[in-house]
Amino acid sequence: MKNKMNECTNWVLERFPMSKLWNEHMAQYYAPKNFNFWYFFGSLALLVLVNQFVTGILLTMNYKPDAKLAFDSVEYIMRDVNWGWLIRYMHSTGASAFFIVIYLHMFRGMIYGSYKRPRELIWIFGMLLFVCLMAEAFMGYLLPWGQMSYWGAQVIISLFSAIPVIGDELSLWIRGDYVISDATLNRFFAFHVIAVPLALLILVFLHIIALHEVGSNNPDGIEIKESKDPWGHPVDGIPFHPYYTVKDIVGVGVFLIFFATVIFYMPELGGYFLEHANFIPADPLATPEHIAPLWYFTPFYAILRAIPDKFAGVIAMGGAIVVLFLLPWLDRCKVKSIRYRGGIFKKALLLFVISFIALGYLGMQPATPGYTMMARIFTAIYFGFFLLMPIYTHWEKTKPIPKRVTEEPDVEEQYAAIVEAFDEMTIKEPLKTSWGATAFPVTPNKSGIIHVTTRLLKKLKASLD
Ligand code: HEM
Repeated sequence: MKNKMNECTNWVLERFPMSKLWNEHMAQYYAPKNFNFWYFFGSLALLVLVNQFVTGILLTMNYKPDAKLAFDSVEYIMRDVNWGWLIRYMHSTGASAFFIVIYLHMFRGMIYGSYKRPRELIWIFGMLLFVCLMAEAFMGYLLPWGQMSYWGAQVIISLFSAIPVIGDELSLWIRGDYVISDATLNRFFAFHVIAVPLALLILVFLHIIALHEVGSNNPDGIEIKESKDPWGHPVDGIPFHPYYTVKDIVGVGVFLIFFATVIFYMPELGGYFLEHANFIPADPLATPEHIAPLWYFTPFYAILRAIPDKFAGVIAMGGAIVVLFLLPWLDRCKVKSIRYRGGIFKKALLLFVISFIALGYLGMQPATPGYTMMARIFTAIYFGFFLLMPIYTHWEKTKPIPKRVTEEPDVEEQYAAIVEAFDEMTIKEPLKTSWGATAFPVTPNKSGIIHVTTRLLKKLKASLD
């Protein structure tokens, strides 16, 4: 039996470079040994991508891309298909989880300067992935054919008509009709299930190949390839497999706890993951009072609404994404990681994060004069962060960078710290039950939670200084 197996393996190996690929990209791929929390999100993005593919395929088996049947087919999946509710919630929660993971993944790139030379192409492929992801989410949202699906798509597609000369024709071409209709639903379905997922797969492949060509960055932002041992391996590197495959499983475990909590206890997440208005079938004759996209689009939507002129608003919204592509060339600082950068960059980054979150909030609110004014201020900060970057990063005072990567606390230390924090944040008082046993109900400890949070914030600040 064993011989047969070996023969079989050899037969494949003589025809396909399986072990070569495994070694180059896993067992012999040397990754910096100081990866931290922020380095979980790449593999988590891959996990969510697989989740979306698998649940998407299962949903497609019962979904009907027809304006007359779509809404009911989703209800059918929720009520009558075996485990249909779970598959749908995994897909809808997966969409929001994808954006959470990707925003954190991009933020990691920003704090550690992972977009800087020689990783510009990794960043560009990443940004193309981000654009495809937005297209994928936007088109997927039309499919349940609820009120918000319909009117959200109507608002966004009508933006194209603001483009001079070709605008009206262009939006007609995208919709395939004068209003959102069955024709629009059919083409969005084709793009959502075939075209865009294919583009995502190809881009993920290119993203990883580009990463493995130059090697991973790390929290110190130094190149580990510059110090090698006599065998030619980076002294500060460890093989990706088994070290990071095992470490990533821990990240996956923690992620799945949050993911499952949302799916099983709060799948709509108060209207943030599944909007209430989308439980009403699409009605072309009744415009909802308040149209807003899902949370992950609202920062860009707020920028669009902040500009009084429609066309200029569209340009600003597009510009907010285009500037991210240019980041590798806007940042002129000599060092990569935030650990060794000057105070100006740290403050600018903080302002950027505040403005992005604030825009996200404002994009969900009605466009009152007060909110619009605030959106204008935060839009200015958002663009200021990028457009002034060549100036403030050029003059920034940096700290000397180390030759070798700095030590991170090991797993035992991190585990002990988590257990200690959990103990501090909870009260466990023995309680005699009516049947005589002793139970230890866990209740939150307010002062402990405040204490731990303050400690964490102080640590976070110290890690950035
Ligand atoms: C489907 C979406 C994506 C997937 C599956 C994905 C996957 C990955 C993986 C597995 C890694 C290596 C592990 C890690 O460093 O965390 C990585 C690295 C990286 N990704 Fe992505 N990524 C995606 C989107 C993006 C986006 C939107 C950006 C930014 C625009 C981006 C920028 C980067 C950069 C700069 C690195 C190198 C980081 C470093 O070495 O420090 N990725 N990505």
